[in-house]
Amino acid sequence: MNAQITTKEILNRLFSVYVKKHYIKIFVSIICMVLVAAATATNAWLMQPVLDDIFINKNRDFIIVIPVVILLIAFLKGAASYFQSILMSFVGYKIVADLQRHMLATLLKCDLSYFNATNSGTLVSRFLADVGALSRGVHNVIINIVKDSLTFIFLLGVMFHHDLKLATITLLIFPLAIYPISRIGKRLRKISKNTQVGFGLLTKKLTESFQGIKTIKSFNAEKVEASKIEKEIENLFSLTLKSTKVNSISRPLMETLGGLAVALIVFVGGTQVINGETTPGTFFSFLTALLMAYQPLKSLATLNATLQISMASAERIFEIIDQKPSVIERNPNKDYILKVSNPYDLKINNVHFKYENSPNLILKNINIEIVKGQKVALVGHSGAGKTSLLNLIPRFFDVEKGNILLDKVDIRDLSFKFLRDHFSIVSQDVILFDETIKTNISYGKQNANFQEIKTACEKANCIEFIDDLPNKFNEYVGEKGVRLSGGQKQRIAIARAFLKNSPFLLLDEATSSLDSKSEKKIQISLSKLMKNKTSLVIAHRLSTILDADKIILLHRGKVEAVGKHNFLLKNSKIYKNLYELQFKE
Ligand SMILES: Nc1ncnc2c1ncn2[C@@H]1O[C@H](COP(=O)(O)OP(=O)(O)OP(=O)(O)O)[C@@H](O)[C@H]1O
Ligand SMILES: [Mg+2]
Repeated sequence: MNAQITTKEILNRLFSVYVKKHYIKIFVSIICMVLVAAATATNAWLMQPVLDDIFINKNRDFIIVIPVVILLIAFLKGAASYFQSILMSFVGYKIVADLQRHMLATLLKCDLSYFNATNSGTLVSRFLADVGALSRGVHNVIINIVKDSLTFIFLLGVMFHHDLKLATITLLIFPLAIYPISRIGKRLRKISKNTQVGFGLLTKKLTESFQGIKTIKSFNAEKVEASKIEKEIENLFSLTLKSTKVNSISRPLMETLGGLAVALIVFVGGTQVINGETTPGTFFSFLTALLMAYQPLKSLATLNATLQISMASAERIFEIIDQKPSVIERNPNKDYILKVSNPYDLKINNVHFKYENSPNLILKNINIEIVKGQKVALVGHSGAGKTSLLNLIPRFFDVEKGNILLDKVDIRDLSFKFLRDHFSIVSQDVILFDETIKTNISYGKQNANFQEIKTACEKANCIEFIDDLPNKFNEYVGEKGVRLSGGQKQRIAIARAFLKNSPFLLLDEATSSLDSKSEKKIQISLSKLMKNKTSLVIAHRLSTILDADKIILLHRGKVEAVGKHNFLLKNSKIYKNLYELQFKE
Protein backbone atom coordinates (compact mmCIF):
# COMPACT_ATOMS: atom_id res chain seq x y z
CA MET A 1 0.00 0.00 0.00
CA ASN A 2 2.79 2.40 0.88
CA ALA A 3 5.02 1.65 -2.06
CA GLN A 4 5.42 4.97 -3.83
CA ILE A 5 3.02 4.95 -6.74
CA THR A 6 4.52 6.50 -9.84
CA THR A 7 3.15 9.67 -11.35
CA LYS A 8 2.33 7.74 -14.47
CA GLU A 9 0.22 5.18 -12.63
CA ILE A 10 -1.69 7.88 -10.81
CA LEU A 11 -2.26 9.84 -13.99
CA ASN A 12 -3.43 6.76 -15.85
CA ARG A 13 -5.92 5.97 -13.17
CA LEU A 14 -7.12 9.54 -12.84
CA PHE A 15 -7.54 9.79 -16.56
CA SER A 16 -9.29 6.50 -17.16
CA VAL A 17 -11.66 6.64 -14.19
CA TYR A 18 -12.32 10.31 -13.60
CA VAL A 19 -11.36 12.39 -16.63
CA LYS A 20 -12.03 10.30 -19.72
CA LYS A 21 -15.79 10.15 -19.34
CA HIS A 22 -16.02 13.92 -19.76
CA TYR A 23 -14.38 13.71 -23.15
CA ILE A 24 -17.06 15.70 -25.01
CA LYS A 25 -16.84 18.61 -22.60
CA ILE A 26 -13.06 18.44 -22.61
CA PHE A 27 -13.00 18.29 -26.39
CA VAL A 28 -15.24 21.37 -26.77
CA SER A 29 -13.19 23.09 -24.12
CA ILE A 30 -10.00 22.29 -26.03
CA ILE A 31 -11.49 23.81 -29.17
CA CYS A 32 -12.22 26.94 -27.16
CA MET A 33 -8.62 26.93 -25.93
CA VAL A 34 -7.37 26.66 -29.49
CA LEU A 35 -9.47 29.71 -30.36
CA VAL A 36 -8.11 31.65 -27.41
CA ALA A 37 -4.54 30.75 -28.34
CA ALA A 38 -5.10 31.66 -31.97
CA ALA A 39 -6.68 34.98 -30.98
CA THR A 40 -3.69 35.85 -28.82
CA ALA A 41 -1.27 35.06 -31.62
CA THR A 42 -3.35 37.03 -34.14
CA ASN A 43 -3.20 40.05 -31.87
CA ALA A 44 0.59 39.85 -31.88
CA TRP A 45 0.65 39.39 -35.62
CA LEU A 46 -1.61 42.45 -36.13
CA MET A 47 1.12 44.69 -34.70
CA GLN A 48 2.88 44.49 -38.03
CA PRO A 49 0.14 46.02 -40.25
CA VAL A 50 -0.73 48.47 -37.47
CA LEU A 51 2.79 49.82 -37.46
CA ASP A 52 3.77 49.45 -41.09
CA ASP A 53 0.49 50.28 -42.82
CA ILE A 54 -1.11 52.76 -40.48
CA PHE A 55 1.77 54.53 -38.79
CA ILE A 56 4.47 54.39 -41.45
CA ASN A 57 2.62 54.12 -44.77
CA LYS A 58 -0.36 56.13 -43.45
CA ASN A 59 -2.84 53.92 -45.34
CA ARG A 60 -6.41 55.12 -44.55
CA ASP A 61 -8.15 51.83 -45.50
CA PHE A 62 -6.53 50.02 -42.60
CA ILE A 63 -7.67 52.55 -40.02
CA ILE A 64 -11.18 51.06 -40.13
CA VAL A 65 -10.41 47.46 -40.98
CA ILE A 66 -7.83 46.75 -38.29
CA PRO A 67 -9.85 48.09 -35.32
CA VAL A 68 -12.86 46.09 -36.53
CA VAL A 69 -10.74 42.96 -36.74
CA ILE A 70 -9.33 43.65 -33.28
CA LEU A 71 -12.87 43.99 -31.90
CA LEU A 72 -13.98 40.76 -33.54
CA ILE A 73 -10.99 38.92 -32.17
CA ALA A 74 -11.63 40.31 -28.71
CA PHE A 75 -15.23 39.14 -28.84
CA LEU A 76 -14.25 35.69 -30.09
CA LYS A 77 -11.53 35.33 -27.48
CA GLY A 78 -13.90 36.44 -24.71
CA ALA A 79 -16.60 33.99 -25.72
CA ALA A 80 -14.16 31.12 -26.11
CA SER A 81 -12.61 31.88 -22.70
CA TYR A 82 -16.05 31.91 -21.13
CA PHE A 83 -17.09 28.52 -22.45
CA GLN A 84 -13.70 27.01 -21.80
CA SER A 85 -13.79 28.17 -18.18
CA ILE A 86 -17.35 26.94 -17.59
CA LEU A 87 -16.70 23.55 -19.16
CA MET A 88 -13.39 22.94 -17.42
CA SER A 89 -14.83 24.02 -14.06
CA PHE A 90 -17.65 21.58 -14.56
CA VAL A 91 -15.17 18.79 -15.20
CA GLY A 92 -13.07 19.85 -12.20
CA TYR A 93 -16.01 19.92 -9.78
CA LYS A 94 -17.34 16.66 -11.15
CA ILE A 95 -13.97 15.03 -10.45
CA VAL A 96 -14.13 16.37 -6.89
CA ALA A 97 -17.61 14.96 -6.40
CA ASP A 98 -16.68 11.59 -7.88
CA LEU A 99 -13.59 11.25 -5.72
CA GLN A 100 -15.54 12.20 -2.63
CA ARG A 101 -18.26 9.71 -3.47
CA HIS A 102 -15.72 6.95 -4.00
CA MET A 103 -13.93 7.75 -0.75
CA LEU A 104 -17.22 7.75 1.09
CA ALA A 105 -18.25 4.42 -0.41
CA THR A 106 -15.00 2.81 0.75
CA LEU A 107 -15.05 4.41 4.16
CA LEU A 108 -18.58 3.30 4.92
CA LYS A 109 -17.48 -0.24 4.14
CA CYS A 110 -14.37 -0.03 6.29
CA ASP A 111 -14.57 -1.82 9.60
CA LEU A 112 -14.23 -0.30 13.01
CA SER A 113 -10.53 -1.23 13.27
CA TYR A 114 -9.81 1.23 10.48
CA PHE A 115 -11.66 4.03 12.25
CA ASN A 116 -9.97 3.13 15.52
CA ALA A 117 -6.63 3.55 13.79
CA THR A 118 -7.46 6.62 11.69
CA ASN A 119 -8.33 9.99 13.06
CA SER A 120 -11.55 11.52 11.79
CA GLY A 121 -9.91 14.95 11.41
CA THR A 122 -7.39 13.43 9.03
CA LEU A 123 -10.17 11.86 7.02
CA VAL A 124 -12.05 15.14 6.81
CA SER A 125 -8.93 16.90 5.58
CA ARG A 126 -8.54 14.31 2.83
CA PHE A 127 -12.12 14.85 1.81
CA LEU A 128 -11.70 18.59 1.56
CA ALA A 129 -8.09 19.71 1.21
CA ASP A 130 -6.66 16.84 -0.80
CA VAL A 131 -9.59 16.54 -3.16
CA GLY A 132 -9.54 20.31 -3.71
CA ALA A 133 -5.82 20.33 -4.44
CA LEU A 134 -6.14 17.43 -6.84
CA SER A 135 -8.99 18.93 -8.79
CA ARG A 136 -7.28 22.31 -9.04
CA GLY A 137 -4.24 20.44 -10.28
CA VAL A 138 -6.10 18.49 -12.97
CA HIS A 139 -7.85 21.68 -14.07
CA ASN A 140 -4.63 23.68 -14.27
CA VAL A 141 -2.65 20.94 -15.91
CA ILE A 142 -5.18 20.53 -18.73
CA ILE A 143 -5.34 24.29 -19.25
CA ASN A 144 -1.54 24.53 -19.07
CA ILE A 145 -0.96 21.75 -21.48
CA VAL A 146 -3.52 22.84 -24.02
CA LYS A 147 -4.05 26.57 -23.79
CA ASP A 148 -0.60 27.69 -22.73
CA SER A 149 1.36 25.42 -24.98
CA LEU A 150 -0.85 26.24 -27.96
CA THR A 151 -0.58 29.94 -27.29
CA PHE A 152 3.18 29.54 -27.05
CA ILE A 153 3.34 27.52 -30.27
CA PHE A 154 1.17 29.98 -32.19
CA LEU A 155 3.21 32.91 -30.97
CA LEU A 156 6.34 31.08 -31.94
CA GLY A 157 4.74 30.63 -35.37
CA VAL A 158 4.28 34.40 -35.62
CA MET A 159 7.93 34.86 -34.68
CA PHE A 160 9.17 32.37 -37.26
CA HIS A 161 6.88 33.88 -39.87
CA HIS A 162 8.47 37.26 -39.33
CA ASP A 163 12.10 36.48 -38.80
CA LEU A 164 13.81 33.13 -38.94
CA LYS A 165 17.07 34.26 -37.40
CA LEU A 166 15.55 36.05 -34.42
CA ALA A 167 13.14 33.21 -33.81
CA THR A 168 15.98 30.71 -33.72
CA ILE A 169 17.87 32.78 -31.16
CA THR A 170 14.75 32.91 -28.99
CA LEU A 171 14.17 29.21 -29.27
CA LEU A 172 17.71 28.49 -28.13
CA ILE A 173 17.31 30.47 -24.94
CA PHE A 174 14.06 28.90 -23.67
CA PRO A 175 15.25 25.32 -23.10
CA LEU A 176 17.82 26.64 -20.59
CA ALA A 177 14.92 27.06 -18.19
CA ILE A 178 13.71 23.50 -18.32
CA TYR A 179 16.26 21.55 -16.26
CA PRO A 180 16.13 23.52 -13.00
CA ILE A 181 12.36 23.68 -13.19
CA SER A 182 11.94 19.94 -13.45
CA ARG A 183 14.08 19.51 -10.34
CA ILE A 184 11.90 21.85 -8.33
CA GLY A 185 8.86 19.64 -8.99
CA LYS A 186 10.22 16.68 -7.06
CA ARG A 187 10.92 18.74 -3.97
CA LEU A 188 7.49 20.27 -4.17
CA ARG A 189 5.75 16.90 -4.15
CA LYS A 190 7.41 16.05 -0.87
CA ILE A 191 6.68 19.39 0.75
CA SER A 192 3.10 19.26 -0.43
CA LYS A 193 2.64 15.83 1.10
CA ASN A 194 3.86 17.20 4.44
CA THR A 195 1.59 20.21 4.07
CA GLN A 196 -1.47 18.02 3.66
CA VAL A 197 -0.40 15.93 6.66
CA GLY A 198 -0.04 19.17 8.63
CA PHE A 199 -3.47 20.26 7.51
CA GLY A 200 -4.89 16.95 8.68
CA LEU A 201 -3.23 17.30 12.09
CA LEU A 202 -4.61 20.80 12.51
CA THR A 203 -8.13 19.67 11.59
CA LYS A 204 -7.81 16.79 14.03
CA LYS A 205 -6.56 18.98 16.86
CA LEU A 206 -9.26 21.59 16.27
CA THR A 207 -12.15 19.11 16.15
CA GLU A 208 -10.88 17.37 19.25
CA SER A 209 -10.54 20.60 21.17
CA PHE A 210 -13.96 21.90 20.25
CA GLN A 211 -15.58 18.60 21.07
CA GLY A 212 -13.70 18.33 24.33
CA ILE A 213 -14.16 21.96 25.35
CA LYS A 214 -15.77 20.96 28.64
CA THR A 215 -12.79 18.84 29.63
CA ILE A 216 -10.42 21.63 28.63
CA LYS A 217 -12.27 24.16 30.73
CA SER A 218 -12.63 21.91 33.75
CA PHE A 219 -8.89 21.29 33.82
CA ASN A 220 -8.07 24.94 33.06
CA ALA A 221 -6.18 23.57 30.10
CA GLU A 222 -6.96 26.37 27.61
CA LYS A 223 -3.34 27.52 27.48
CA VAL A 224 -1.90 24.04 27.06
CA GLU A 225 -4.44 23.27 24.35
CA ALA A 226 -3.86 26.58 22.60
CA SER A 227 -0.12 25.99 22.53
CA LYS A 228 -0.63 22.55 20.98
CA ILE A 229 -2.85 24.01 18.29
CA GLU A 230 -0.49 26.93 17.73
CA LYS A 231 2.28 24.41 17.12
CA GLU A 232 0.23 22.90 14.31
CA ILE A 233 -0.59 26.33 12.90
CA GLU A 234 3.10 27.25 13.02
CA ASN A 235 4.05 23.98 11.36
CA LEU A 236 1.54 24.52 8.58
CA PHE A 237 2.73 28.09 8.15
CA SER A 238 6.35 27.11 7.71
CA LEU A 239 5.47 24.29 5.31
CA THR A 240 3.35 26.59 3.15
CA LEU A 241 6.12 29.17 3.19
CA LYS A 242 8.69 26.57 2.22
CA SER A 243 6.53 25.40 -0.63
CA THR A 244 6.11 28.97 -1.89
CA LYS A 245 9.86 29.54 -1.64
CA VAL A 246 10.68 26.44 -3.64
CA ASN A 247 7.96 27.25 -6.10
CA SER A 248 9.30 30.78 -6.57
CA ILE A 249 12.90 29.74 -7.20
CA SER A 250 12.01 29.58 -10.88
CA ARG A 251 11.02 33.25 -10.92
CA PRO A 252 14.46 34.99 -10.95
CA LEU A 253 15.62 32.45 -13.49
CA MET A 254 12.66 33.03 -15.76
CA GLU A 255 12.94 36.81 -15.43
CA THR A 256 16.64 36.77 -16.27
CA LEU A 257 16.14 34.52 -19.25
CA GLY A 258 13.22 36.67 -20.41
CA GLY A 259 15.36 39.81 -20.08
CA LEU A 260 18.19 38.13 -21.94
CA ALA A 261 15.89 37.17 -24.79
CA VAL A 262 14.39 40.67 -25.11
CA ALA A 263 17.81 42.31 -24.91
CA LEU A 264 19.22 40.09 -27.65
CA ILE A 265 16.19 40.63 -29.86
CA VAL A 266 16.34 44.42 -29.45
CA PHE A 267 20.02 44.33 -30.29
CA VAL A 268 19.85 42.03 -33.33
CA GLY A 269 16.39 43.15 -34.58
CA GLY A 270 17.21 46.85 -34.03
CA THR A 271 20.35 46.47 -36.13
CA GLN A 272 18.30 44.84 -38.90
CA VAL A 273 15.75 47.68 -38.89
CA ILE A 274 18.51 50.29 -38.99
CA ASN A 275 20.16 48.46 -41.88
CA GLY A 276 16.79 48.38 -43.67
CA GLU A 277 16.69 44.58 -43.73
CA THR A 278 13.27 44.48 -42.06
CA THR A 279 10.39 46.84 -41.33
CA PRO A 280 9.71 48.36 -37.91
CA GLY A 281 6.26 46.72 -38.02
CA THR A 282 7.73 43.27 -38.42
CA PHE A 283 10.16 43.91 -35.61
CA PHE A 284 7.50 45.17 -33.20
CA SER A 285 5.14 42.36 -34.08
CA PHE A 286 7.98 39.96 -33.32
CA LEU A 287 8.71 41.65 -30.01
CA THR A 288 5.02 41.62 -29.07
CA ALA A 289 4.82 37.91 -29.79
CA LEU A 290 7.92 37.35 -27.67
CA LEU A 291 6.54 39.34 -24.74
CA MET A 292 3.20 37.59 -25.02
CA ALA A 293 4.91 34.20 -25.09
CA TYR A 294 6.42 34.90 -21.68
CA GLN A 295 3.19 34.35 -19.73
CA PRO A 296 2.25 30.93 -21.18
CA LEU A 297 5.85 29.82 -20.94
CA LYS A 298 5.95 30.77 -17.28
CA SER A 299 2.88 28.69 -16.52
CA LEU A 300 4.29 25.83 -18.53
CA ALA A 301 7.38 26.07 -16.38
CA THR A 302 5.30 25.61 -13.23
CA LEU A 303 3.33 22.79 -14.82
CA ASN A 304 5.48 20.15 -13.25
CA ALA A 305 5.18 21.76 -9.84
CA THR A 306 1.40 21.87 -10.09
CA LEU A 307 1.39 18.30 -11.25
CA GLN A 308 3.57 17.11 -8.39
CA ILE A 309 1.41 18.85 -5.78
CA SER A 310 -1.70 17.16 -7.12
CA MET A 311 0.08 13.82 -7.28
CA ALA A 312 0.77 14.02 -3.56
CA SER A 313 -2.93 14.54 -2.95
CA ALA A 314 -3.97 11.87 -5.43
CA GLU A 315 -1.76 9.35 -3.66
CA ARG A 316 -3.50 10.00 -0.36
CA ILE A 317 -6.95 9.93 -1.91
CA PHE A 318 -6.35 6.63 -3.70
CA GLU A 319 -4.93 5.22 -0.49
CA ILE A 320 -8.39 5.71 1.02
CA ILE A 321 -10.28 4.50 -2.03
CA ASP A 322 -8.17 1.33 -2.11
CA GLN A 323 -8.59 0.60 1.57
CA LYS A 324 -9.75 -2.99 2.06
CA PRO A 325 -11.88 -3.79 5.09
CA SER A 326 -10.86 -6.79 7.15
CA VAL A 327 -14.42 -7.63 8.11
CA ILE A 328 -15.66 -8.91 4.78
CA GLU A 329 -19.15 -9.72 3.62
CA ARG A 330 -18.80 -13.13 2.00
CA ASN A 331 -22.35 -13.41 0.70
CA PRO A 332 -23.61 -9.86 0.35
CA ASN A 333 -26.51 -10.70 -1.93
CA LYS A 334 -27.63 -13.99 -0.55
CA ASP A 335 -30.54 -13.49 1.77
CA TYR A 336 -30.23 -16.31 4.16
CA ILE A 337 -33.52 -17.91 5.05
CA LEU A 338 -33.80 -19.33 8.49
CA LYS A 339 -35.07 -22.87 8.30
CA VAL A 340 -34.79 -24.29 11.75
CA SER A 341 -37.55 -23.99 14.31
CA ASN A 342 -35.39 -22.27 16.89
CA PRO A 343 -34.19 -19.48 14.71
CA TYR A 344 -32.44 -17.25 17.11
CA ASP A 345 -30.24 -19.54 19.09
CA LEU A 346 -26.83 -18.02 19.36
CA LYS A 347 -23.73 -20.06 19.93
CA ILE A 348 -20.31 -18.62 20.62
CA ASN A 349 -17.79 -21.36 19.93
CA ASN A 350 -14.17 -21.36 21.18
CA VAL A 351 -13.87 -17.70 20.31
CA HIS A 352 -10.53 -15.93 20.54
CA PHE A 353 -10.24 -12.28 19.77
CA LYS A 354 -7.64 -9.53 19.65
CA TYR A 355 -7.70 -5.97 18.37
CA GLU A 356 -5.66 -5.38 15.24
CA ASN A 357 -3.39 -2.84 16.86
CA SER A 358 -2.68 -4.70 20.08
CA PRO A 359 -0.63 -7.85 20.58
CA ASN A 360 -2.67 -9.46 23.35
CA LEU A 361 -5.73 -11.63 23.09
CA ILE A 362 -8.64 -9.77 24.66
CA LEU A 363 -10.93 -12.83 24.63
CA LYS A 364 -9.73 -16.38 25.10
CA ASN A 365 -11.64 -19.53 24.30
CA ILE A 366 -15.13 -18.17 24.92
CA ASN A 367 -18.03 -20.63 24.80
CA ILE A 368 -21.54 -19.36 25.35
CA GLU A 369 -24.88 -20.70 24.29
CA ILE A 370 -28.03 -18.60 24.24
CA VAL A 371 -31.33 -20.30 23.54
CA LYS A 372 -34.28 -18.51 21.99
CA GLY A 373 -36.23 -16.37 24.45
CA GLN A 374 -33.51 -16.43 27.09
CA LYS A 375 -32.21 -13.42 28.84
CA VAL A 376 -28.49 -13.83 29.46
CA ALA A 377 -26.46 -11.43 31.55
CA LEU A 378 -22.78 -10.80 31.03
CA VAL A 379 -20.87 -9.49 34.02
CA GLY A 380 -17.25 -8.83 34.86
CA HIS A 381 -14.85 -6.19 36.09
CA SER A 382 -14.11 -3.18 33.95
CA GLY A 383 -11.84 -4.16 31.09
CA ALA A 384 -12.80 -7.85 31.28
CA GLY A 385 -13.81 -7.79 27.61
CA LYS A 386 -17.60 -7.57 27.82
CA THR A 387 -18.10 -4.83 25.24
CA SER A 388 -15.53 -6.46 22.99
CA LEU A 389 -17.46 -9.72 23.08
CA LEU A 390 -20.74 -7.98 22.30
CA ASN A 391 -19.13 -6.20 19.34
CA LEU A 392 -18.25 -9.53 17.74
CA ILE A 393 -21.89 -10.57 17.32
CA PRO A 394 -22.93 -7.94 14.74
CA ARG A 395 -19.41 -8.32 13.28
CA PHE A 396 -18.10 -4.88 14.17
CA PHE A 397 -14.93 -6.91 14.53
CA ASP A 398 -14.23 -10.47 13.46
CA VAL A 399 -13.09 -13.31 15.69
CA GLU A 400 -9.45 -14.35 15.59
CA LYS A 401 -10.26 -18.03 16.08
CA GLY A 402 -13.46 -20.01 16.62
CA ASN A 403 -16.86 -18.96 15.34
CA ILE A 404 -20.21 -17.52 16.24
CA LEU A 405 -23.30 -19.33 15.03
CA LEU A 406 -26.76 -17.87 14.58
CA ASP A 407 -29.14 -20.74 14.07
CA LYS A 408 -26.19 -23.04 13.39
CA VAL A 409 -24.94 -20.78 10.60
CA ASP A 410 -21.60 -19.02 10.89
CA ILE A 411 -22.43 -15.31 11.08
CA ARG A 412 -19.69 -14.71 8.50
CA ASP A 413 -21.87 -16.49 5.95
CA LEU A 414 -24.79 -14.14 6.49
CA SER A 415 -25.16 -10.87 4.68
CA PHE A 416 -24.53 -7.78 6.81
CA LYS A 417 -28.10 -6.72 6.22
CA PHE A 418 -29.56 -9.99 7.38
CA LEU A 419 -27.25 -10.25 10.36
CA ARG A 420 -27.58 -6.70 11.60
CA ASP A 421 -31.32 -6.58 11.02
CA HIS A 422 -31.61 -9.33 13.59
CA PHE A 423 -29.99 -7.41 16.41
CA SER A 424 -30.98 -4.27 18.21
CA ILE A 425 -28.03 -2.76 19.92
CA VAL A 426 -28.19 -0.30 22.77
CA SER A 427 -24.68 0.63 23.73
CA GLN A 428 -22.90 1.98 26.76
CA ASP A 429 -22.56 5.46 25.33
CA VAL A 430 -25.42 6.50 23.11
CA ILE A 431 -24.48 8.32 19.94
CA LEU A 432 -27.06 10.75 18.60
CA PHE A 433 -26.64 12.83 15.47
CA ASP A 434 -27.24 16.55 15.28
CA GLU A 435 -30.64 16.09 13.75
CA THR A 436 -34.18 16.16 15.05
CA ILE A 437 -35.44 13.72 17.67
CA LYS A 438 -37.65 12.19 15.00
CA THR A 439 -34.77 11.58 12.60
CA ASN A 440 -32.60 10.17 15.37
CA ILE A 441 -35.25 7.67 16.36
CA SER A 442 -36.05 6.66 12.80
CA TYR A 443 -32.52 5.22 12.53
CA GLY A 444 -34.30 2.25 14.09
CA LYS A 445 -36.43 1.81 11.00
CA GLN A 446 -36.09 3.81 7.83
CA ASN A 447 -39.43 5.02 6.45
CA ALA A 448 -41.14 4.55 9.78
CA ASN A 449 -44.28 6.67 9.94
CA PHE A 450 -44.87 9.16 12.68
CA GLN A 451 -47.33 6.97 14.52
CA GLU A 452 -44.75 4.16 14.76
CA ILE A 453 -42.15 6.60 16.05
CA LYS A 454 -44.58 7.91 18.61
CA THR A 455 -45.52 4.44 19.80
CA ALA A 456 -41.84 3.53 20.19
CA CYS A 457 -41.35 6.68 22.24
CA GLU A 458 -44.27 5.86 24.46
CA LYS A 459 -42.86 2.42 25.17
CA ALA A 460 -39.44 3.89 25.86
CA ASN A 461 -40.81 6.49 28.28
CA CYS A 462 -39.68 9.36 26.07
CA ILE A 463 -42.96 11.12 25.41
CA GLU A 464 -43.09 13.35 28.49
CA PHE A 465 -39.69 14.93 27.96
CA ILE A 466 -40.21 15.25 24.19
CA ASP A 467 -43.52 17.02 24.82
CA ASP A 468 -41.68 19.54 26.99
CA LEU A 469 -39.29 20.48 24.19
CA PRO A 470 -40.24 23.65 22.26
CA ASN A 471 -40.28 21.85 18.92
CA LYS A 472 -41.23 18.44 20.25
CA PHE A 473 -40.24 15.73 17.79
CA ASN A 474 -38.65 18.31 15.52
CA GLU A 475 -36.22 19.53 18.16
CA TYR A 476 -32.57 19.34 17.14
CA VAL A 477 -30.52 17.49 19.74
CA GLY A 478 -27.14 19.18 19.13
CA GLU A 479 -23.79 17.60 18.33
CA LYS A 480 -23.76 14.06 19.76
CA GLY A 481 -27.01 14.94 21.51
CA VAL A 482 -25.52 17.55 23.89
CA ARG A 483 -28.88 19.18 24.42
CA LEU A 484 -30.32 16.07 26.06
CA SER A 485 -29.57 14.60 29.46
CA GLY A 486 -27.78 11.27 29.80
CA GLY A 487 -30.97 9.49 30.77
CA GLN A 488 -32.93 11.09 27.92
CA LYS A 489 -30.32 9.98 25.41
CA GLN A 490 -30.55 6.43 26.68
CA ARG A 491 -34.30 6.45 26.37
CA ILE A 492 -34.01 7.70 22.78
CA ALA A 493 -31.70 4.75 22.13
CA ILE A 494 -34.26 2.41 23.62
CA ALA A 495 -36.99 3.97 21.46
CA ARG A 496 -34.83 3.23 18.43
CA ALA A 497 -34.61 -0.38 19.51
CA PHE A 498 -38.39 -0.57 19.97
CA LEU A 499 -38.84 0.79 16.49
CA LYS A 500 -36.36 -1.66 15.02
CA ASN A 501 -38.14 -4.50 16.78
CA SER A 502 -35.58 -7.13 15.98
CA PRO A 503 -35.78 -10.54 17.66
CA PHE A 504 -32.40 -10.33 19.34
CA LEU A 505 -31.28 -7.67 21.75
CA LEU A 506 -27.70 -6.71 22.58
CA LEU A 507 -27.56 -4.37 25.50
CA ASP A 508 -24.59 -2.68 27.06
CA GLU A 509 -26.01 -1.04 30.17
CA ALA A 510 -24.59 2.36 30.88
CA THR A 511 -22.00 2.53 33.63
CA SER A 512 -22.60 6.18 34.41
CA SER A 513 -25.11 6.23 37.21
CA LEU A 514 -28.32 8.12 36.73
CA ASP A 515 -30.59 9.32 39.50
CA SER A 516 -32.92 6.63 40.78
CA LYS A 517 -36.02 8.12 39.14
CA SER A 518 -34.43 8.18 35.73
CA GLU A 519 -32.92 4.77 36.38
CA LYS A 520 -36.33 3.37 37.18
CA LYS A 521 -37.85 4.72 33.97
CA ILE A 522 -35.10 3.17 31.91
CA GLN A 523 -35.43 -0.11 33.71
CA ILE A 524 -39.15 -0.26 33.04
CA SER A 525 -38.79 0.49 29.36
CA LEU A 526 -35.93 -1.97 29.04
CA SER A 527 -37.90 -4.83 30.52
CA LYS A 528 -40.75 -3.96 28.15
CA LEU A 529 -38.24 -4.08 25.30
CA MET A 530 -36.84 -7.45 26.30
CA LYS A 531 -40.23 -9.11 26.51
CA ASN A 532 -40.54 -12.00 24.04
CA LYS A 533 -37.05 -11.43 22.76
CA THR A 534 -33.75 -13.17 23.15
CA SER A 535 -31.22 -10.91 24.81
CA LEU A 536 -27.63 -10.67 25.85
CA VAL A 537 -27.14 -7.90 28.35
CA ILE A 538 -23.97 -6.54 29.82
CA ALA A 539 -25.31 -5.95 33.28
CA HIS A 540 -24.52 -3.06 35.54
CA ARG A 541 -27.83 -3.12 37.40
CA LEU A 542 -28.90 -5.45 40.16
CA SER A 543 -32.34 -6.00 38.66
CA THR A 544 -30.81 -7.26 35.44
CA ILE A 545 -28.79 -10.01 37.08
CA LEU A 546 -31.62 -11.05 39.34
CA ASP A 547 -33.90 -11.37 36.30
CA ALA A 548 -31.44 -13.23 34.11
CA ASP A 549 -31.93 -16.85 33.03
CA LYS A 550 -28.22 -17.24 33.29
CA ILE A 551 -25.27 -15.10 34.19
CA ILE A 552 -21.90 -15.36 32.51
CA LEU A 553 -18.97 -14.10 34.48
CA LEU A 554 -16.17 -12.86 32.30
CA HIS A 555 -12.78 -12.45 33.90
CA ARG A 556 -9.68 -11.25 32.07
CA GLY A 557 -11.07 -12.38 28.74
CA LYS A 558 -12.19 -15.83 29.89
CA VAL A 559 -15.50 -17.27 30.98
CA GLU A 560 -14.89 -17.75 34.67
CA ALA A 561 -18.27 -19.11 35.74
CA VAL A 562 -21.83 -19.59 34.50
CA GLY A 563 -25.03 -19.89 36.50
CA LYS A 564 -27.83 -18.09 38.29
CA HIS A 565 -27.19 -15.35 40.80
CA ASN A 566 -27.48 -17.42 43.97
CA PHE A 567 -25.40 -20.23 42.56
CA LEU A 568 -22.60 -17.90 41.52
CA LEU A 569 -22.71 -16.07 44.81
CA LYS A 570 -22.10 -19.34 46.58
CA ASN A 571 -19.56 -20.81 44.17
CA SER A 572 -17.49 -17.98 42.71
CA LYS A 573 -15.26 -15.74 44.77
CA ILE A 574 -14.77 -13.36 41.88
CA TYR A 575 -18.52 -13.07 41.39
CA LYS A 576 -19.06 -12.43 45.06
CA ASN A 577 -16.44 -9.73 45.04
CA LEU A 578 -17.90 -8.15 41.91
CA TYR A 579 -21.37 -8.26 43.36
CA GLU A 580 -20.27 -6.51 46.49
CA LEU A 581 -18.46 -3.82 44.54
CA GLN A 582 -20.93 -3.21 41.74
CA PHE A 583 -24.37 -4.54 42.36
CA LYS A 584 -25.14 -4.58 46.03
CA GLU A 585 -27.47 -1.72 46.88
N1 LIG B 1 -10.65 -0.43 20.04
C1 LIG B 1 -9.79 -1.03 20.86
N2 LIG B 1 -8.52 -1.26 20.46
C2 LIG B 1 -7.65 -1.86 21.26
N3 LIG B 1 -7.94 -2.31 22.48
C3 LIG B 1 -9.19 -2.13 22.95
C4 LIG B 1 -10.18 -1.48 22.16
N4 LIG B 1 -11.32 -1.43 22.86
C5 LIG B 1 -11.05 -2.03 24.05
N5 LIG B 1 -9.79 -2.45 24.09
C6 LIG B 1 -9.17 -3.19 25.21
O1 LIG B 1 -9.87 -4.40 25.40
C7 LIG B 1 -10.03 -4.69 26.76
C8 LIG B 1 -11.48 -5.00 27.04
O2 LIG B 1 -12.25 -3.84 26.84
P1 LIG B 1 -13.83 -3.83 26.90
O3 LIG B 1 -14.29 -2.52 26.41
O4 LIG B 1 -14.32 -5.03 26.19
O5 LIG B 1 -14.09 -3.97 28.46
P2 LIG B 1 -15.46 -4.04 29.26
O6 LIG B 1 -15.50 -5.34 29.93
O7 LIG B 1 -16.58 -3.67 28.38
O8 LIG B 1 -15.23 -2.90 30.36
P3 LIG B 1 -16.30 -1.85 30.97
O9 LIG B 1 -17.09 -2.58 32.00
O10 LIG B 1 -15.42 -0.83 31.60
O11 LIG B 1 -17.10 -1.32 29.86
C9 LIG B 1 -9.49 -3.53 27.52
O12 LIG B 1 -8.26 -3.91 28.06
C10 LIG B 1 -9.29 -2.43 26.50
O13 LIG B 1 -8.11 -1.73 26.75
MG1 LIG C 1 -17.80 -2.00 28.21
